[in-house]
Amino acid sequence: MTGDRGLSGPHLARLLGEWRSGGPAYAALARAVRLLVLDGRLPLRTRLPGERELAEALGVSRTTATAAYAALREEGYLASRRGSGSWTRLPADPGVAPGPGPVGAGGAVIDLSCAASAAPDGDLHAALAKATSELPRHLPGPGYDAAGLPVLREAIAAYLSRLGAPTTSDQIFVSAGALHGLTLLLRVLSGPGDRVVVEHPTYAAALDAVRASGARPVPVPMLDDGWDLEMLASTFRQAAPGLAYLIADHQNPTGLSMSAGDRERLVALARATRTPLVVDEAIVGLHLDGEPQRSVAALDEAGETVITIGSMSKTFWAGLRIGWVRANPSLINRLAAARAALDISSPVIEQLMAVSLLEGAEPILARQREAARARRDVLVSALRSELPAWRFSVPPGGLCLWVELDAPRSTALAALADRHGVRLGAGPRFGVDGAFERFVRIPYSLPADVLVDAVGRLSVAWRGVVSGGAPVSEAAPALVA
Ligand SMILES: Cc1ncc(COP(=O)(O)O)c(C=O)c1O
Repeated sequence: MTGDRGLSGPHLARLLGEWRSGGPAYAALARAVRLLVLDGRLPLRTRLPGERELAEALGVSRTTATAAYAALREEGYLASRRGSGSWTRLPADPGVAPGPGPVGAGGAVIDLSCAASAAPDGDLHAALAKATSELPRHLPGPGYDAAGLPVLREAIAAYLSRLGAPTTSDQIFVSAGALHGLTLLLRVLSGPGDRVVVEHPTYAAALDAVRASGARPVPVPMLDDGWDLEMLASTFRQAAPGLAYLIADHQNPTGLSMSAGDRERLVALARATRTPLVVDEAIVGLHLDGEPQRSVAALDEAGETVITIGSMSKTFWAGLRIGWVRANPSLINRLAAARAALDISSPVIEQLMAVSLLEGAEPILARQREAARARRDVLVSALRSELPAWRFSVPPGGLCLWVELDAPRSTALAALADRHGVRLGAGPRFGVDGAFERFVRIPYSLPADVLVDAVGRLSVAWRGVVSGGAPVSEAAPALVA
């Protein structure tokens, strides 16, 4: 198959408009052509002008045009045949290499809705080999352990103790990730109609879990630099919540970390009001600047008031689906009983892999932090150069930036970005009642070159939004992790 209609150099130059967007000229040109293809302004099977003609029309060197076409061919947006020229196509077409990320409806998609990194694959392979060698010991048993394999409960307890919260294995429940832990806690500690205090903004899926449990989220606004303890105190007293769900470290999405003094005040407040305090530590371990804070659990070693939930997802690999809850042993038993009606227990091999990863956690975490730091810096400088009117503080930890836009059009941005191949968590996904239209969460968990590409696309999408071209009725993507 070849192109079924052609386009002159000047015509393509008009369609491209202001295509220069920073970085090497060939990459910017390739990106601009790709966007034209992705949003349908350059129909599929359109024959593009020859490289010399395009170079002349754009006033660039022939090398730039040649390199741009080569990049487009490599990404699957261009097919060429000697004598027939080059024509547009999508990576999903058979026989064409896919672009970055999963292929969605309109072409290659960069998924910024999810703040989770690729696995440290060497470490994962080593953990799998070790787990396989340990497996025969477990085969004579049934493989069910509602509270988790004893060896993993020990390893998690030892890991949390090393992090500063002395913990015994009977204080640990192994879950299928932190969100599963929260879902079970909501079942056990609160009921339909109960109130659950949440930070505002907060982790989108946790809000969904609270709503799905029948409870009502009661939002307490975050301040620019931390938690409003006064507001938390009056809310705990007036709303009498079934529980409070907070993320004290590298809060998702703001990236803030609670001060040591506020941790103490918070625990004292929870004790005084008898409010179970569920502290999500899924992002603990990803402190990028400075020393980590002590776990809130260290202020309540018995786990009577403070319940922490943790996870392998952000620090090791989300695909393991292994997390935990740290609480007093009687609550651990109630969680195990609640789980019996849901999914009974976690898979043995993944639990054994978690044992091995946690036992050798420190060097792995150091590498993960180093990678996150580098990606954060790349995202920060790409945003500062491409979208200087967007404001954000550089978070000292975690995996995302919480970015304030220069207009309250976050949902429109997410919708238009989707058409430019970027999936994004719009601000309102992190709040209740449509708040945060002025914000967007941008994770830095993808490789640096993909982040730079994403920012280029976001910048084009944002220009479309502010110039009035955004489809406001399209829904923002559903999954935000
Ligand atoms: C604060 C927080 N908790 C929990 C999760 C999900 O963790 P898991 O994959 O262990 O369910 C996330 C993922 O983004 C998160 O940011």
